[in-house]
Amino acid sequence: MLDHAQNRPELPPEIARRRTFAIISHPDAGKTTLTEKFLLFGGAIQMAGQVRAKGEARRTRSDFMQMEKDRGISVSASAMSFDFGTYRFNLVDTPGHSDFSEDTYRTLTAVDAAVMVIDGAKGVESQTRKLFEVCRLRDLPILTFCNKMDRESRETFDIIDEIQQNLAIDVTPASWPIGRGAEFIGCYDLLRNRLELMDRADRNKVGETIVLDGLDDPAMEAHIPADLLAQLREEVEMARELLPPLDPKSVLEGHLTPIWFGSAINSFGVKELMDGIAAYAPQPQIQKAENRQIAPEEDKVTGFVFKVQANMDPKHRDRVAFVRLASGHFERGMKLLHVRSKKQMSIASPVLFLAADRELAEEAWAGDIIGIPNHGQLRIGDALTEGEALRFTGIPSFAPELLQACRAGDPMKAKHLDKALTQFAEEGAAKVFKPVFGSGFIVGVVGQLQYEVLASRIELEYGLPVRFEPTQFTSARWVAGDKLAVEKFTAANKQHMATDSDGDPVFMTRLQWDIDRVARDYPDIRLTSIKEMHGT
Ligand code: G4P
Repeated sequence: MLDHAQNRPELPPEIARRRTFAIISHPDAGKTTLTEKFLLFGGAIQMAGQVRAKGEARRTRSDFMQMEKDRGISVSASAMSFDFGTYRFNLVDTPGHSDFSEDTYRTLTAVDAAVMVIDGAKGVESQTRKLFEVCRLRDLPILTFCNKMDRESRETFDIIDEIQQNLAIDVTPASWPIGRGAEFIGCYDLLRNRLELMDRADRNKVGETIVLDGLDDPAMEAHIPADLLAQLREEVEMARELLPPLDPKSVLEGHLTPIWFGSAINSFGVKELMDGIAAYAPQPQIQKAENRQIAPEEDKVTGFVFKVQANMDPKHRDRVAFVRLASGHFERGMKLLHVRSKKQMSIASPVLFLAADRELAEEAWAGDIIGIPNHGQLRIGDALTEGEALRFTGIPSFAPELLQACRAGDPMKAKHLDKALTQFAEEGAAKVFKPVFGSGFIVGVVGQLQYEVLASRIELEYGLPVRFEPTQFTSARWVAGDKLAVEKFTAANKQHMATDSDGDPVFMTRLQWDIDRVARDYPDIRLTSIKEMHGT
């Protein structure tokens, strides 16, 4: 298929063949199943079932993971790389639960496109909508996969209409389903004029593909019952009249989403979607830094940390920083400047995540995601370069929506608590504030569930039972302004002040009135609910 994403012919072929994307969906729509089929067709696993099986083996390692399993959510993200034809796909997993939206947002800073999976019977669900909005903030191109077509589903036009109305994005069909539910037999590929038939007998086998000479080709009659064929011809004619054509530029700009219909569990429509990602999702994109933009084809290696995952193996207390390479050709053993600490780091054992395993990354290119094991030096927003003091922008930290005090069951263990909370703050799992007055910590999160996850991780990883309790504060805002003004403000509002884990001043209150008062009384101070994390 033609590669429509070749909009920048100057890119070296190794970079141009990369597609870095995430899957967004509501729980249960089929993200895991689709991921597994991607890996299967990408040759990264040999048989279906491996991802889940491995996932479960990993999960039994800890209660925290057990909790995740019980609740049926995925709170940890990982990145997987695999080849598809001449392409290299990097799939970054997004956490599925809405309480972890900040993590999701940052994950989406590392990708160039998103695949939106919806359930053909349910349409656009709440979590899909939230994730879609995050993609929109970044104008990410979106490709849509309408899954579970082997089951009773909605009318095709209704599904398309709902996406257009609900998400305010134009939709163009890349394929058109034939029959519904038990009668579903496959799709007509509108991009290549092919008939694709689903193989219900073997879930891991791709069904027959018949190349046709358009919808009127008499060969269709041999494969499709007359009533379904008449319906298909009528619907496709209407769709071509009413819906926009597939304009690759509109897709890249995020105004138009092509939709494929299929059934992940039956391996149906998955290869077509993968061809679609190769053809319509972008090559590694330009990344923004302070003062300049970073083009992927630049010779020198640059990258930024968008996620830190601690204790992937609780026995070793290791942390893996996930780095999106923004430019250059990375080779194992390279020395890179860690811009925040101004220190050189020798990247001796970077990992690539192939399926559910880690593998040493001998080399990587712009667009790739590599994992760098470390002992806490690497934090979200940090830049790695070959010497330039770059600061990547657009990796935000949001003010938390909930605040609670965290106390250790055993007061003698305050030091351990400090260490544990610092780790979670650096991992981006919570905001940790130290009030100017009083002792203890105030922990900020987006959703209540995060407190439970934190409490169980602190107990599990540090052997420290903790309680979360309400505080007198409900909102936190970062204080911005010139140094003197901030100092003056801090001195005059000590009972409201705290510092975050980077030592930056934070104003806490329970009243909007207080925030308004600051705006009125301190014109040279700004209270902000977003802080850029660029590793300063
Ligand atoms: P998620 O990661 O988005 O949460 O979804 P997941 O892939 O786990 O799929 C959710 C359920 O939907 C699973 O069933 C899965 O087998 C099923 N499923 C996925 N794709 C299709 C499809 O194309 N057609 C049909 N009919 N079902 C599909 P489960 O019963 O929850 O799990 P399992 O016992 O099958 O593993």
